[in-house]
Amino acid sequence: MNIRDEAALRELNLYPLWVRRGIPAAVEAVPATSASVAESQAAAPVPDEVISKPTEDQTDTRQSAAGFAKPVPSADEGLNPSGLSLLNWTGLKQKVRDCTACKLRVGCSRTVFGVGDENADWLFVGEGPGADEDAQGEPFVGQAGKLLDNMLAAINLKRGSNVYIANVVKCRPPNNRTPEPDEIATCMPYLQQQIALIKPKLVVALGKTAATSLLGRDATLGSLRGTIHDYHGTPLIVTYHPAYLLRSPAEKAKAWQDLCFAQQRMMT
Ligand code: URA
Repeated sequence: MNIRDEAALRELNLYPLWVRRGIPAAVEAVPATSASVAESQAAAPVPDEVISKPTEDQTDTRQSAAGFAKPVPSADEGLNPSGLSLLNWTGLKQKVRDCTACKLRVGCSRTVFGVGDENADWLFVGEGPGADEDAQGEPFVGQAGKLLDNMLAAINLKRGSNVYIANVVKCRPPNNRTPEPDEIATCMPYLQQQIALIKPKLVVALGKTAATSLLGRDATLGSLRGTIHDYHGTPLIVTYHPAYLLRSPAEKAKAWQDLCFAQQRMMT
């Protein structure tokens, strides 16, 4: 483990470490000081979640210069009947930039599309931009973003490198309130098309809004953790939102379990 990894694990209250033999340290390390060491060492977290990447190169086969993608399979049409399924990255970014389809756009400074590796295996989905994201136009750049970066580092991931980060809604809700159902419904086709273009191997839903929006059903976050869910053929796991973890640091151990679970899933 390098110094940066150690710092990330300290940030997560995950250091010093217990390491299971035969498994990379960053995958199986659990907090030795946590009251939940035994729970953390369980093979998988208690509750729930998500899928797999076709071998063809999506960038080469799906993009055209005009902002359209080659038609994607009919299943994707069913998932995203808004016409967005014809768009490639260029076209989709433009659509989001120009969007005024819900009441959030009037109250925010700019849309926040998403950031990272457009061919990533890992997709992390949050709720919506906050003040920092609204100012900078990039998801998770405030305090919650710093913690997310540390969570990524703890499993040897880095923003932008095999990782894409997006939100359910692309505009900042006033006073950082939870997006309303009509706002989520209006914005979801953008996220759906982002997922169709990325074709991640795993989606990690950060918090209840992301999880329930993607899964299309209401449930408690606790009941959704620890399981591989299916997002239209892509595996999806659920963990706590970093902003919640900042308010409830005792829950970081559970988030760590979820990250280990996600990494195990990715290695299968
Ligand atoms: N919270 C989110 O859900 N998304 C962000 O981009 C920032 C904070």
